[in-house]
Amino acid sequence: MIQRTLILIKPDGVQRCLSGKILARFEDAGMKIVGMKMVWVDKDFAKEHYYEHVEKSFYSGLEAVITMGPVVAVVLEGVEAIAKVRKMVGSTEPKSAEPGTIRGDYAHVSYGYADQEGLGIKNLIHASDSEKSAKKEIELWFDQKEIHSYKTVHDVHLY
Ligand code: RTP
Ligand code: MG
Repeated sequence: MIQRTLILIKPDGVQRCLSGKILARFEDAGMKIVGMKMVWVDKDFAKEHYYEHVEKSFYSGLEAVITMGPVVAVVLEGVEAIAKVRKMVGSTEPKSAEPGTIRGDYAHVSYGYADQEGLGIKNLIHASDSEKSAKKEIELWFDQKEIHSYKTVHDVHLY
């Protein structure tokens, strides 16, 4: 039941100086940061991470956004963390993302607007969407020695 999941605070989130606020939401929910670093992704690495989208029409916009500055890559650990984190992140399109979610609270643009302007959707954060992708993405982004096991104050209540 204890899972690890990868989040990326995307360049728009970093450049809007929202990294701390975004991370605080996960820490406030009791999840543990077990890995964290800043990475400026190049086009080849973007294609590895978003391999399932490379052939899609929106890929050029997505690639432009994810490579436009450094991201903060974080491995979070918690009880059923993969689904919980996705819920906290919200829907892909900021316009549709519920208030209370990260994308709903800190962004608002629509697919329609982004397409009209020829821009990628700036939705602040990536989160792994399944156990399979979490495992694969954590292995892609982090060496084993960059992942840490330690106790937080929440462990007393959780485990
Ligand atoms: P992510 O992978 O970044 O966590 O986002 P997600 O699961 O919510 O959405 P996904 O379908 O995996 O799409 C990956 C990223 O591609 C961009 N996108 N643009 N214009 C479009 O129709 C469109 N659809 C997806 C977004 O940046 C999305 O986060
Ligand atoms: Mg995705």
